[in-house]
Amino acid sequence: MSVAKNAFLSTFSHLTKAVSNGTPLLRVTKPIVSAPMNAWSGPTLVAAVANHGGFPIYPIGYFTDPPKILKELQSILPLLKDLEAPGSNQAAGAAGARAGEVTGAEAGPEPDQFLPYGVGFITFWLDRQGPELLLDILKGRGDDPNRQSPPRPPAAVWFSFGNYKPYLKLIREHGVTGTKVIVQVQTIQEALEAQQELVDVIVLQGTESGGHGAQRVWPLMTLIPEAIQALEAKVGSVNASGSKLTMPAILAAGGISVASQFTAIQTMGASGAVIGTGFMPTYESPGPQHAKERLLKVEDGGAGTVRTRIFDELREFNWPEGYDGRVVRNLVTEREEEDLKNHGLYEQTGPAVFKLLKEDRTGTKEDWIRATKDQDFDLLPLWAGTGVGMLKKQVSAAEFMDQLLNKPN
Ligand SMILES: Cc1cc2nc3c(=O)[nH]c(=O)nc-3n(C[C@H](O)[C@H](O)[C@H](O)COP(=O)(O)O)c2cc1C
Repeated sequence: MSVAKNAFLSTFSHLTKAVSNGTPLLRVTKPIVSAPMNAWSGPTLVAAVANHGGFPIYPIGYFTDPPKILKELQSILPLLKDLEAPGSNQAAGAAGARAGEVTGAEAGPEPDQFLPYGVGFITFWLDRQGPELLLDILKGRGDDPNRQSPPRPPAAVWFSFGNYKPYLKLIREHGVTGTKVIVQVQTIQEALEAQQELVDVIVLQGTESGGHGAQRVWPLMTLIPEAIQALEAKVGSVNASGSKLTMPAILAAGGISVASQFTAIQTMGASGAVIGTGFMPTYESPGPQHAKERLLKVEDGGAGTVRTRIFDELREFNWPEGYDGRVVRNLVTEREEEDLKNHGLYEQTGPAVFKLLKEDRTGTKEDWIRATKDQDFDLLPLWAGTGVGMLKKQVSAAEFMDQLLNKPN
């Protein structure tokens, strides 16, 4: 695949590594982004995707402990291959110091200014917690504190679910020039707004997606071409601050598990894909093995998953209106569907919602706490997209990426 022709790969063509002869090599060579999956992605998966030429997004998720997040970001570093390019200032300095020689700091190329991954914020949660963690990350506090060269921020910041616009200002004022912004949207209107805001990458999230998304949203089959048509029509016009609008890189998210789908979304005009569910059963995902096996057993991904808000009520995360999440059907979604059928719409709040947890509807908050402790996915949400039905075998993240880029199956 030609980097010049692929808008997503071009966006990250400044991220390089060097081989022993000093020739810079591109880091991001596959237009595959691993989604920021709370509890299902982490340092090992992030490193595996980055090391195999993809672009991973580390999940900041529902954070409550910023120092813990910064430590976890630091724990990614030793897992990343070729992070300090041989011949770079940093590597030359370290080698020289060891050998007691003149360090020759000017000898090699400048080390990369960015870490080769993105960090993914749930925007409404960031509003609740305040911007300090974002600012720390932009200052490079997720990099190795003992490194001699300037601390590196991640190459991109990702926003989903909420108003990201105030944070664009922060990134542009306090970030390193060149930090890219990725925004996940669900409607044409939101895609057009993101273009007006000059974001670098727009992720179009279809209703097929696993995890959270908009309650009312298109399938990718129509979302991708309509969004691209609308965005292309605006290229060359001018936004409120007088900047000329360009065509951002477009990624598609939702239900993509096999090569034929990957080819299809590219045929429709997307540069590549954001994939969550497909990475969940991989060896490198931090999710529990019994849940990975449960995912691999789901048949008929459309019928076997359902969109619901019930788990947000149970978890008391207070998600804003307009969002729900796609999850593998379980005891709780069955109870919810029955109740909806028998009683119509009802208030899913307070103790009433916990009553759905058991066959006899006597569930309580304690049952939920127990299920969380035991990782019991009869009750807990196993978020997954419609593509889950096509995942049959546990593989490594690299194998999964290779399968996606293979000939259509
Ligand atoms: C387990 C899981 C957790 C997710 N967590 C997040 C999250 O924290 N932030 C976010 O922006 N998107 C999250 N998503 C949604 C993804 O960004 C993406 O839209 C989705 O995974 C694409 O659909 P797919 O799962 O069918 O590949 C999550 C998805 C899954 C499956």
